[in-house]
Amino acid sequence: MFKKTSNYSQGREPELLVGLDLGTSKVAVVVAEREADGDEAQIIGVGQAPSNGIRKGLIVNLDQAVRSVRQAVSDAQNMVGQDIRGVTVAFGGGEVTSIRSKGMVALGRSPRSVAQLDIERVIDAAQANVVVPMNQSILHTIPVEYSLDGNVGIDDPLGMNAMRLDIDVQSIIVPTATIQNVLNCVTRAGLEVNSLVLKPLVSALGVLTPEDALAGAVVIDFGGGTTGIAVFADGRPKHLALLPIGGDHLTNDLATVLKLPLNKAEDIKRTISLSGDFPEGETLDFENHGKAYRIAKSELHDIICCRLDELCDELIRPEIKNAKVTMLPGGVLLTGGVAKTEGIEDFFLEKLSLPARSALPLDANRMPPNRNTQEYASAAGIIKYILDRERDPFRYLDNPSIIKGDKSKPALPKPEPVFRLNTQPGKDKEETQRGDVFDSLKRVFKDIF
Ligand SMILES: Nc1ncnc2c1ncn2[C@@H]1O[C@H](COP(=O)(O)OP(=O)(O)OP(=O)(O)O)[C@@H](O)[C@H]1O
Ligand SMILES: [Mg+2]
Repeated sequence: MFKKTSNYSQGREPELLVGLDLGTSKVAVVVAEREADGDEAQIIGVGQAPSNGIRKGLIVNLDQAVRSVRQAVSDAQNMVGQDIRGVTVAFGGGEVTSIRSKGMVALGRSPRSVAQLDIERVIDAAQANVVVPMNQSILHTIPVEYSLDGNVGIDDPLGMNAMRLDIDVQSIIVPTATIQNVLNCVTRAGLEVNSLVLKPLVSALGVLTPEDALAGAVVIDFGGGTTGIAVFADGRPKHLALLPIGGDHLTNDLATVLKLPLNKAEDIKRTISLSGDFPEGETLDFENHGKAYRIAKSELHDIICCRLDELCDELIRPEIKNAKVTMLPGGVLLTGGVAKTEGIEDFFLEKLSLPARSALPLDANRMPPNRNTQEYASAAGIIKYILDRERDPFRYLDNPSIIKGDKSKPALPKPEPVFRLNTQPGKDKEETQRGDVFDSLKRVFKDIF
């Protein structure tokens, strides 16, 4: 006899979790499915479309960007055979600032157990020390480290006994206009924005194993228009940064120096090896529009290395230092399209004196072929971000009041003083507890907005 066992048969459809990655080279949409009542989600499709109207991660032409998003979503819908409405959007671009601040609360004269309210209070205290510049908004508030009675490295203080709770938080601040343009773009493409996340964070979640995140590691997402940096230790992001330089700069350098059209420079870039172990005098010979070219491989190598040297010395190394993490035994995980460059691991090993490897998404074997490479690490990481936040609402606090702003006004709306974490309806006691958390967090953020 046919036995009804699946959730479908009980009328409970699996839930779709969707991540939209607004990249400079391509827009990617990752769709995962989670069985009703399940904790884990399985990636079932990856849509993509060439990205137009986005430069250095920033939307520069809204109509073109909207078209790219629609195309990528339609590609994903065709792949999974379901409609997509709500998305978590990863974006980057423009000025991104990471500010660290500290907070402390006394728990009493004798040790007592840390309650949720104490965690809210200590975040509140740390937030009170952050000054948000005009026309900028806090996108994320990330607890970096808890200490109890001066003992650092506490993973989760809830329920532990102490007399004093300290916190170190990282606030990620981005221009309000950048956020508003992303929201406009995605909603005009017919989607609902569930939440927004900064790209370097999801790139890291897409490739970092829990062991590397605990031990200490750097993730560098080298994309088309940006380079994202995330330094993790003790399982938490200690520092996030986004640089407005990516693989397109390497292409432009080649095109400019060699006086080649961009598409040819792009093709050549993908053949270059950074190892430099080609025989002396070896050349690359090719024809373009009837003209014959002969370029020394050493010259191509030098052009690319010159730009990468500068990027490492001037920008990447200082950002890693900013994280103030002394040990990074997990080394450097390189991802994003440029991480496919031959010899890039050795280049970074030498430059940063850390073991380096090119990293595929952790879920690569569940993703479709050709859409499971380094370019898709950040999109895959969005699903991990959604799940992580559900498991631990205090891990990455975001500011959904930005999303709920009044879009009828052309001017940027003043965000409501409401801080709400994403929950799903009908979730009982746990939901009520989280509801209390929201109320408390309203107070936390009230002063800021
Ligand atoms: N095999 C390869 N060798 C070198 N570079 C490559 C290779 N394949 C792709 N790239 C480069 O990777 C970049 C695109 O990477 P990716 O898809 O990760 O960017 P993106 O996510 O769209 O952009 P961003 O995150 O910067 O906004 C392009 O500059 C492309 O030239
Ligand atoms: Mg990217």
